[in-house]
Amino acid sequence: LQLAVMASGRGSNLQAVIEAIDAGRLDAHVVMVLANKADAYALTRAKERGIPAVFLDPKAYGTREDYDRAAAAQLRQAGAEALLLAGYMRIVTASLINAFAGRVLNIHPSLLPSFPGLHAQRQALDYGVRYSGCTVHFVDEGLDSGPIICQAVVPVEPGDTEATLAARILTEEHRILPEALQLIAQGRVTVTGRRVEIQPAQ
Ligand code: GRF
Repeated sequence: LQLAVMASGRGSNLQAVIEAIDAGRLDAHVVMVLANKADAYALTRAKERGIPAVFLDPKAYGTREDYDRAAAAQLRQAGAEALLLAGYMRIVTASLINAFAGRVLNIHPSLLPSFPGLHAQRQALDYGVRYSGCTVHFVDEGLDSGPIICQAVVPVEPGDTEATLAARILTEEHRILPEALQLIAQGRVTVTGRRVEIQPAQ
C-alpha cells in the first residue's frame, strides 16, 4: 500500500506505522509526510527515516479547498494511493477525499460517535464514562464522522487525568492503526453505506 500521511504534531502514530512496516506487520510504504505546521515533530521523524517530508503552509492558500487540492496533488505525485490523517488537526474537504477515492483514514482518541472533535479524552472524563478508547475510521466531510473500521476500548480509572487517560488510549491507537491499515493493504475492507465489512484472511 503506497501510503501518504498528514499530521500536525508529535507523530507518534506515524512512528507506530513505520515500526509496523519495519516489523513486517504492515505491507505498506510511506511515500510522503505532509504537515500544516512547520514545527510538526512528525516531519522530523519522517526525515530521520528518509521519507519525503513537506510543510505546506495554509497561509499560502485562500481556502481549505485550495489547500487540500495542493496537498492532494503533491501526495498523488509522490505515488500515494491512500492517505492517513495521523493527528492532523483540520477538517478535510472533498478535494482531498475525492483525490483518494474514499481511501482516507483517520485515528481519533474516543469511541466514536462519542466525543468527536478536539480534546476527546477531556470530553470523556467530563462526561464521566467508565470506558473510552480509540477509533480508526474512513474520512468523510464531517467531523470524525465516517465509517468505522476498528475500535479499541480502555477503562477510565479512578483518579485519571486527561494525560493518564490519553496515554492509555494512545497505546491502543498505536496497536489498532497498523492493524486497520493492514486490512486495507490486504484489500479486505469493503464499505456499504455506513457499514464497513472485513473479509476474513485468506
Ligand atoms: C492522537 O491522539 C490521535 O488520535 C489524534 O491526535 C493525536 C495525535 O498524536 N487525532 P500523534 O501526533 O500521532 O502522536
